[in-house]
Amino acid sequence: MIRGNIALERAERFETPYEISKNKLMEAAQKALDKLERDIPKWENNFALDYSINFKYPQGINNHWECGMHTGLYWLAYEMSGNKKFRNVAEKHMPTYRERFDKKVELNDHDVGFVYIPSCIAAYKITGEEKYRQLALDVADYYYHAGYSKKGGFILRDWDCEDMVGACRTMMDTLMNAPFLFWAGIESGKQEYIDAALSQNRTTEKYLIRKDGSSYHHYQFDVETHKPLYGLTWQGASNESCWSRGHAWGVYGFPIAYGYSKEEYLINLHRDVTYYMLNKLPEDFIPHWDYIYAGSNEQPRDSSAGAISVCGMREMCRHLSDDEPQKKIFESASAKMLEAIIDNCTGDIGKEYDGLIYHVTHALPQGLGIDECAIYGDYFYLEALMRFINPTWKGYW
Ligand code: GLY
Repeated sequence: MIRGNIALERAERFETPYEISKNKLMEAAQKALDKLERDIPKWENNFALDYSINFKYPQGINNHWECGMHTGLYWLAYEMSGNKKFRNVAEKHMPTYRERFDKKVELNDHDVGFVYIPSCIAAYKITGEEKYRQLALDVADYYYHAGYSKKGGFILRDWDCEDMVGACRTMMDTLMNAPFLFWAGIESGKQEYIDAALSQNRTTEKYLIRKDGSSYHHYQFDVETHKPLYGLTWQGASNESCWSRGHAWGVYGFPIAYGYSKEEYLINLHRDVTYYMLNKLPEDFIPHWDYIYAGSNEQPRDSSAGAISVCGMREMCRHLSDDEPQKKIFESASAKMLEAIIDNCTGDIGKEYDGLIYHVTHALPQGLGIDECAIYGDYFYLEALMRFINPTWKGYW
Protein backbone atom coordinates (compact mmCIF):
# COMPACT_ATOMS: atom_id res chain seq x y z
CA MET A 1 0.00 0.00 0.00
CA ILE A 2 1.23 3.51 -0.77
CA ARG A 3 1.91 5.39 2.44
CA GLY A 4 2.73 8.98 3.27
CA ASN A 5 -0.39 10.57 1.78
CA ILE A 6 -2.44 11.47 4.86
CA ALA A 7 -2.84 15.25 5.05
CA LEU A 8 -2.52 17.11 8.32
CA GLU A 9 -5.79 18.93 8.97
CA ARG A 10 -5.95 22.22 10.91
CA ALA A 11 -2.20 22.37 10.40
CA GLU A 12 -2.10 25.86 11.94
CA ARG A 13 -2.42 24.17 15.36
CA PHE A 14 1.06 22.70 15.04
CA GLU A 15 2.95 24.68 12.41
CA THR A 16 4.33 27.33 14.72
CA PRO A 17 7.20 26.13 16.92
CA TYR A 18 6.02 25.56 20.47
CA GLU A 19 7.98 24.88 23.64
CA ILE A 20 7.01 24.05 27.21
CA SER A 21 8.81 26.41 29.58
CA LYS A 22 11.75 24.89 31.42
CA ASN A 23 10.17 25.86 34.75
CA LYS A 24 6.97 24.03 33.96
CA LEU A 25 8.85 20.89 32.93
CA MET A 26 11.07 20.94 36.02
CA GLU A 27 8.13 21.55 38.35
CA ALA A 28 6.14 18.72 36.75
CA ALA A 29 9.11 16.36 37.06
CA GLN A 30 9.75 17.34 40.67
CA LYS A 31 6.11 16.83 41.56
CA ALA A 32 6.18 13.35 40.02
CA LEU A 33 9.45 12.45 41.77
CA ASP A 34 8.16 13.71 45.14
CA LYS A 35 5.07 11.57 44.83
CA LEU A 36 7.05 8.49 43.82
CA GLU A 37 9.44 9.01 46.75
CA ARG A 38 6.61 9.54 49.22
CA ASP A 39 4.94 6.28 48.14
CA ILE A 40 8.08 4.09 48.21
CA PRO A 41 7.03 2.22 51.40
CA LYS A 42 3.83 1.17 49.66
CA TRP A 43 5.51 -0.23 46.56
CA GLU A 44 9.02 -1.42 47.39
CA ASN A 45 7.73 -4.96 47.95
CA ASN A 46 4.59 -4.75 45.83
CA PHE A 47 3.28 -4.03 42.38
CA ALA A 48 0.42 -1.75 41.46
CA LEU A 49 -2.21 -3.67 39.54
CA ASP A 50 -2.89 -2.10 36.15
CA TYR A 51 -5.42 0.65 36.79
CA SER A 52 -6.77 2.43 39.86
CA ILE A 53 -10.15 1.84 41.45
CA ASN A 54 -11.51 5.11 42.84
CA PHE A 55 -8.03 6.45 42.14
CA LYS A 56 -6.29 3.88 44.37
CA TYR A 57 -3.97 1.22 42.95
CA PRO A 58 -4.70 -2.29 44.25
CA GLN A 59 -1.53 -4.01 45.48
CA GLY A 60 -0.40 -7.30 43.99
CA ILE A 61 2.50 -9.42 42.84
CA ASN A 62 4.52 -9.42 39.64
CA ASN A 63 1.99 -11.16 37.38
CA HIS A 64 0.65 -8.53 34.96
CA TRP A 65 1.96 -6.93 31.75
CA GLU A 66 1.98 -3.55 33.51
CA CYS A 67 4.43 -4.68 36.22
CA GLY A 68 7.41 -3.99 33.98
CA MET A 69 6.37 -0.37 33.78
CA HIS A 70 6.05 -0.11 37.55
CA THR A 71 9.69 -1.14 37.96
CA GLY A 72 10.59 1.00 34.94
CA LEU A 73 9.16 4.04 36.72
CA TYR A 74 11.78 3.65 39.45
CA TRP A 75 14.63 3.15 36.98
CA LEU A 76 13.50 6.29 35.18
CA ALA A 77 13.12 8.25 38.43
CA TYR A 78 16.64 7.16 39.40
CA GLU A 79 18.06 8.27 36.07
CA MET A 80 16.20 11.57 36.29
CA SER A 81 17.22 12.45 39.84
CA GLY A 82 20.25 10.36 40.76
CA ASN A 83 18.36 9.54 43.99
CA LYS A 84 19.50 6.07 45.11
CA LYS A 85 16.20 5.42 46.90
CA PHE A 86 14.59 4.90 43.51
CA ARG A 87 17.31 2.55 42.36
CA ASN A 88 16.87 0.54 45.57
CA VAL A 89 13.17 0.00 44.85
CA ALA A 90 13.89 -1.09 41.29
CA GLU A 91 16.58 -3.48 42.56
CA LYS A 92 14.17 -4.88 45.16
CA HIS A 93 11.69 -5.62 42.37
CA MET A 94 14.25 -7.34 40.16
CA PRO A 95 14.42 -10.85 41.74
CA THR A 96 10.70 -11.24 41.06
CA TYR A 97 11.44 -11.10 37.31
CA ARG A 98 13.72 -14.16 37.47
CA GLU A 99 11.13 -15.96 39.59
CA ARG A 100 8.34 -15.01 37.24
CA PHE A 101 10.26 -16.37 34.27
CA ASP A 102 11.28 -19.60 36.04
CA LYS A 103 7.64 -20.27 36.94
CA LYS A 104 6.25 -18.80 33.69
CA VAL A 105 3.73 -16.69 35.56
CA GLU A 106 1.40 -15.04 33.03
CA LEU A 107 4.06 -15.06 30.34
CA ASN A 108 2.05 -16.75 27.63
CA ASP A 109 1.14 -13.73 25.56
CA HIS A 110 2.38 -10.98 23.25
CA ASP A 111 3.04 -8.58 26.16
CA VAL A 112 6.21 -10.28 27.48
CA GLY A 113 8.28 -7.36 26.15
CA PHE A 114 6.27 -4.88 28.20
CA VAL A 115 7.23 -6.90 31.27
CA TYR A 116 10.96 -7.29 30.59
CA ILE A 117 12.03 -4.19 28.61
CA PRO A 118 11.50 -1.38 31.16
CA SER A 119 12.53 -3.63 34.05
CA CYS A 120 15.27 -6.01 32.93
CA ILE A 121 16.76 -4.31 29.87
CA ALA A 122 16.61 -1.00 31.75
CA ALA A 123 18.40 -2.67 34.70
CA TYR A 124 21.12 -3.95 32.38
CA LYS A 125 21.54 -0.61 30.61
CA ILE A 126 21.80 1.25 33.92
CA THR A 127 23.84 -1.16 36.07
CA GLY A 128 25.72 -3.10 33.37
CA GLU A 129 25.11 -6.29 35.39
CA GLU A 130 25.37 -9.46 33.33
CA LYS A 131 22.61 -11.25 35.28
CA TYR A 132 20.02 -8.80 33.90
CA ARG A 133 21.31 -9.14 30.35
CA GLN A 134 21.24 -12.93 30.63
CA LEU A 135 17.73 -12.97 32.05
CA ALA A 136 16.47 -10.69 29.26
CA LEU A 137 18.12 -12.94 26.66
CA ASP A 138 16.64 -16.09 28.21
CA VAL A 139 13.17 -14.58 28.22
CA ALA A 140 13.52 -13.26 24.66
CA ASP A 141 14.52 -16.72 23.45
CA TYR A 142 11.46 -18.21 25.12
CA TYR A 143 9.27 -15.41 23.67
CA TYR A 144 10.57 -16.02 20.15
CA HIS A 145 10.11 -19.80 20.26
CA ALA A 146 6.73 -19.81 22.03
CA GLY A 147 5.17 -16.73 20.50
CA TYR A 148 6.41 -16.17 16.97
CA SER A 149 4.60 -17.73 14.02
CA LYS A 150 7.09 -18.01 11.20
CA LYS A 151 4.46 -19.09 8.72
CA GLY A 152 2.25 -16.11 9.56
CA GLY A 153 5.04 -13.58 10.18
CA PHE A 154 3.57 -12.31 13.42
CA ILE A 155 3.67 -12.77 17.19
CA LEU A 156 0.61 -14.62 18.49
CA ARG A 157 -1.74 -12.87 20.85
CA ASP A 158 -1.26 -15.72 23.30
CA TRP A 159 -0.36 -19.34 23.38
CA ASP A 160 -1.27 -22.21 25.81
CA CYS A 161 -4.78 -21.06 25.08
CA GLU A 162 -7.68 -23.45 24.40
CA ASP A 163 -9.39 -21.03 22.06
CA MET A 164 -6.98 -20.98 19.10
CA VAL A 165 -9.14 -18.38 17.37
CA GLY A 166 -8.37 -15.98 20.23
CA ALA A 167 -4.72 -16.99 20.16
CA CYS A 168 -4.19 -16.64 16.45
CA ARG A 169 -4.31 -12.86 16.30
CA THR A 170 -1.82 -10.09 16.35
CA MET A 171 -2.28 -6.65 17.83
CA MET A 172 -1.10 -3.04 17.80
CA ASP A 173 0.20 -3.52 21.37
CA THR A 174 2.71 -6.07 20.07
CA LEU A 175 4.64 -3.30 18.31
CA MET A 176 6.00 -2.29 21.71
CA ASN A 177 7.07 -5.88 22.39
CA ALA A 178 8.88 -6.38 19.10
CA PRO A 179 11.81 -4.20 20.34
CA PHE A 180 12.56 -7.01 22.79
CA LEU A 181 13.47 -9.20 19.81
CA PHE A 182 15.41 -6.43 18.06
CA TRP A 183 17.47 -5.92 21.22
CA ALA A 184 17.99 -9.64 21.84
CA GLY A 185 18.96 -10.21 18.20
CA ILE A 186 21.66 -7.57 18.37
CA GLU A 187 22.95 -8.74 21.78
CA SER A 188 23.02 -12.43 20.88
CA GLY A 189 23.79 -12.23 17.16
CA LYS A 190 20.68 -14.32 16.40
CA GLN A 191 19.31 -12.96 13.15
CA GLU A 192 16.05 -14.93 13.52
CA TYR A 193 14.95 -12.65 16.38
CA ILE A 194 15.57 -9.57 14.25
CA ASP A 195 13.72 -11.13 11.32
CA ALA A 196 10.74 -11.82 13.60
CA ALA A 197 10.67 -8.21 14.83
CA LEU A 198 10.90 -6.93 11.25
CA SER A 199 8.04 -9.23 10.21
CA GLN A 200 5.90 -8.11 13.13
CA ASN A 201 6.18 -4.53 11.90
CA ARG A 202 5.56 -5.44 8.26
CA THR A 203 2.56 -7.61 9.10
CA THR A 204 1.11 -4.80 11.20
CA GLU A 205 1.61 -2.33 8.37
CA LYS A 206 -0.02 -4.67 5.89
CA TYR A 207 -3.10 -5.73 7.81
CA LEU A 208 -3.69 -3.52 10.84
CA ILE A 209 -3.01 -0.03 9.45
CA ARG A 210 -5.88 1.08 7.24
CA LYS A 211 -5.63 3.29 4.16
CA ASP A 212 -6.62 6.39 6.15
CA GLY A 213 -3.81 5.85 8.70
CA SER A 214 -6.14 4.53 11.43
CA SER A 215 -5.65 1.08 12.94
CA TYR A 216 -7.48 -2.08 13.80
CA HIS A 217 -6.72 -3.12 17.34
CA HIS A 218 -6.44 -6.84 16.48
CA TYR A 219 -6.15 -8.85 13.29
CA GLN A 220 -7.43 -12.40 13.05
CA PHE A 221 -5.44 -15.10 11.24
CA ASP A 222 -6.54 -18.57 10.23
CA VAL A 223 -5.86 -21.12 12.95
CA GLU A 224 -4.36 -23.71 10.60
CA THR A 225 -2.67 -21.73 7.85
CA HIS A 226 -2.02 -18.44 9.69
CA LYS A 227 -3.34 -16.61 6.62
CA PRO A 228 -4.94 -13.18 7.24
CA LEU A 229 -8.72 -13.08 7.77
CA TYR A 230 -10.17 -9.82 9.19
CA GLY A 231 -9.59 -6.93 11.58
CA LEU A 232 -11.39 -6.64 14.90
CA THR A 233 -11.12 -5.02 18.30
CA TRP A 234 -10.90 -5.86 21.97
CA GLN A 235 -10.57 -2.54 23.81
CA GLY A 236 -11.92 -0.26 21.09
CA ALA A 237 -15.47 1.00 20.48
CA SER A 238 -16.04 -1.27 17.47
CA ASN A 239 -14.16 -3.40 14.98
CA GLU A 240 -13.97 -0.52 12.52
CA SER A 241 -13.07 2.20 15.05
CA CYS A 242 -9.57 3.19 16.17
CA TRP A 243 -8.76 2.52 19.83
CA SER A 244 -6.50 5.38 20.86
CA ARG A 245 -4.03 3.52 23.08
CA GLY A 246 -3.66 0.73 20.54
CA HIS A 247 -2.97 3.40 17.92
CA ALA A 248 -0.46 5.06 20.25
CA TRP A 249 1.53 1.81 20.38
CA GLY A 250 1.99 2.35 16.63
CA VAL A 251 2.89 6.03 17.01
CA TYR A 252 5.69 4.87 19.33
CA GLY A 253 6.41 1.34 18.06
CA PHE A 254 7.16 2.24 14.42
CA PRO A 255 9.86 4.82 15.29
CA ILE A 256 11.55 2.31 17.59
CA ALA A 257 11.53 -0.24 14.77
CA TYR A 258 12.97 2.43 12.47
CA GLY A 259 15.77 3.09 14.97
CA TYR A 260 16.75 -0.59 14.88
CA SER A 261 16.12 -1.38 11.23
CA LYS A 262 16.35 1.91 9.27
CA GLU A 263 13.64 0.49 6.99
CA GLU A 264 12.48 3.52 4.99
CA TYR A 265 8.80 2.56 4.71
CA LEU A 266 8.47 3.13 8.46
CA ILE A 267 8.96 6.90 8.05
CA ASN A 268 5.92 7.47 5.83
CA LEU A 269 3.91 4.89 7.72
CA HIS A 270 4.65 6.65 10.99
CA ARG A 271 3.71 10.01 9.50
CA ASP A 272 0.35 8.61 8.40
CA VAL A 273 -0.56 7.06 11.76
CA THR A 274 0.61 10.19 13.60
CA TYR A 275 -1.22 12.63 11.32
CA TYR A 276 -4.34 10.49 11.73
CA MET A 277 -3.98 10.84 15.51
CA LEU A 278 -3.32 14.61 15.33
CA ASN A 279 -6.34 15.10 13.04
CA LYS A 280 -8.53 13.47 15.69
CA LEU A 281 -7.17 15.41 18.67
CA PRO A 282 -9.68 17.66 20.42
CA GLU A 283 -8.93 21.32 21.13
CA ASP A 284 -7.40 20.48 24.52
CA PHE A 285 -4.99 17.93 22.96
CA ILE A 286 -5.98 14.99 25.23
CA PRO A 287 -7.09 11.99 23.12
CA HIS A 288 -10.54 10.48 23.52
CA TRP A 289 -10.36 6.80 24.48
CA ASP A 290 -11.30 5.92 20.91
CA TYR A 291 -10.70 8.27 17.98
CA ILE A 292 -14.15 7.54 16.64
CA TYR A 293 -15.34 9.95 19.36
CA ALA A 294 -13.29 12.93 18.16
CA GLY A 295 -15.49 15.98 18.74
CA SER A 296 -17.52 14.42 21.54
CA ASN A 297 -17.82 16.21 24.88
CA GLU A 298 -19.15 13.20 26.73
CA GLN A 299 -16.73 10.39 26.02
CA PRO A 300 -13.85 9.74 28.47
CA ARG A 301 -10.30 10.58 27.51
CA ASP A 302 -7.17 8.49 27.63
CA SER A 303 -4.21 10.61 28.70
CA SER A 304 -1.99 7.50 28.57
CA ALA A 305 -2.53 7.40 24.77
CA GLY A 306 -1.40 11.04 24.78
CA ALA A 307 1.77 10.32 26.80
CA ILE A 308 2.72 7.31 24.65
CA SER A 309 2.17 9.34 21.47
CA VAL A 310 4.38 12.15 22.83
CA CYS A 311 7.21 9.62 23.37
CA GLY A 312 6.67 8.25 19.85
CA MET A 313 6.86 11.65 18.16
CA ARG A 314 9.97 12.61 20.13
CA GLU A 315 11.58 9.28 19.23
CA MET A 316 10.89 9.80 15.52
CA CYS A 317 12.30 13.36 15.69
CA ARG A 318 15.67 11.84 16.62
CA HIS A 319 15.77 10.09 13.27
CA LEU A 320 14.35 12.82 11.02
CA SER A 321 16.50 15.44 9.34
CA ASP A 322 15.48 19.08 9.71
CA ASP A 323 14.16 19.25 6.15
CA GLU A 324 11.49 16.58 6.76
CA PRO A 325 8.31 18.65 7.16
CA GLN A 326 6.81 16.42 9.83
CA LYS A 327 9.71 17.01 12.21
CA LYS A 328 8.59 20.53 13.16
CA ILE A 329 4.99 19.34 13.42
CA PHE A 330 5.97 16.50 15.77
CA GLU A 331 8.10 18.80 17.90
CA SER A 332 5.33 21.28 18.43
CA ALA A 333 2.50 18.72 18.69
CA SER A 334 4.38 16.65 21.28
CA ALA A 335 5.03 19.78 23.36
CA LYS A 336 1.36 20.81 23.23
CA MET A 337 0.20 17.30 24.10
CA LEU A 338 2.58 16.93 27.04
CA GLU A 339 1.73 20.38 28.35
CA ALA A 340 -1.97 19.49 28.13
CA ILE A 341 -1.36 16.41 30.31
CA ILE A 342 0.59 18.47 32.85
CA ASP A 343 -2.16 21.12 32.93
CA ASN A 344 -5.24 18.89 32.85
CA CYS A 345 -4.24 15.52 34.33
CA THR A 346 -1.91 16.21 37.27
CA GLY A 347 -3.76 18.86 39.30
CA ASP A 348 -5.87 18.82 42.42
CA ILE A 349 -9.12 16.84 42.12
CA GLY A 350 -10.17 17.27 45.74
CA LYS A 351 -9.05 13.78 46.73
CA GLU A 352 -5.90 11.68 46.81
CA TYR A 353 -5.05 9.76 43.66
CA ASP A 354 -2.28 7.17 43.46
CA GLY A 355 -1.13 7.82 39.91
CA LEU A 356 1.06 10.55 38.51
CA ILE A 357 -1.66 11.36 35.95
CA TYR A 358 -5.41 10.79 35.74
CA HIS A 359 -7.95 10.77 32.86
CA VAL A 360 -6.63 7.37 31.76
CA THR A 361 -9.11 4.86 30.35
CA HIS A 362 -7.93 1.28 30.61
CA ALA A 363 -10.60 -0.84 28.90
CA LEU A 364 -13.96 0.83 28.47
CA PRO A 365 -15.89 -1.98 26.75
CA GLN A 366 -14.91 -4.26 29.65
CA GLY A 367 -15.88 -1.56 32.19
CA LEU A 368 -12.34 -1.44 33.63
CA GLY A 369 -10.48 1.65 34.79
CA ILE A 370 -12.58 4.32 33.11
CA ASP A 371 -11.26 7.86 33.68
CA GLU A 372 -8.84 6.66 36.34
CA CYS A 373 -5.05 6.31 36.75
CA ALA A 374 -2.93 3.46 35.35
CA ILE A 375 0.64 2.50 36.04
CA TYR A 376 1.59 2.50 32.34
CA GLY A 377 0.13 6.02 32.04
CA ASP A 378 2.45 7.10 34.87
CA TYR A 379 5.43 5.41 33.25
CA PHE A 380 4.98 6.99 29.81
CA TYR A 381 4.24 10.39 31.36
CA LEU A 382 7.55 10.27 33.23
CA GLU A 383 9.31 9.01 30.12
CA ALA A 384 7.81 11.90 28.12
CA LEU A 385 9.09 14.37 30.72
CA MET A 386 12.50 12.70 30.61
CA ARG A 387 12.61 13.05 26.82
CA PHE A 388 11.97 16.80 27.08
CA ILE A 389 14.32 17.43 30.00
CA ASN A 390 17.13 15.26 28.71
CA PRO A 391 16.80 14.89 24.92
CA THR A 392 19.91 12.68 24.75
CA TRP A 393 18.40 10.12 27.17
CA LYS A 394 19.07 6.73 25.57
CA GLY A 395 15.81 4.95 26.39
CA TYR A 396 14.96 1.39 27.32
CA TRP A 397 13.02 0.22 24.24
N1 GLY B 1 -1.77 -4.58 26.38
C1 GLY B 1 -1.49 -3.21 26.30
C2 GLY B 1 -2.65 -2.28 26.52
O1 GLY B 1 -3.69 -2.69 27.01
O2 GLY B 1 -2.53 -1.14 26.20
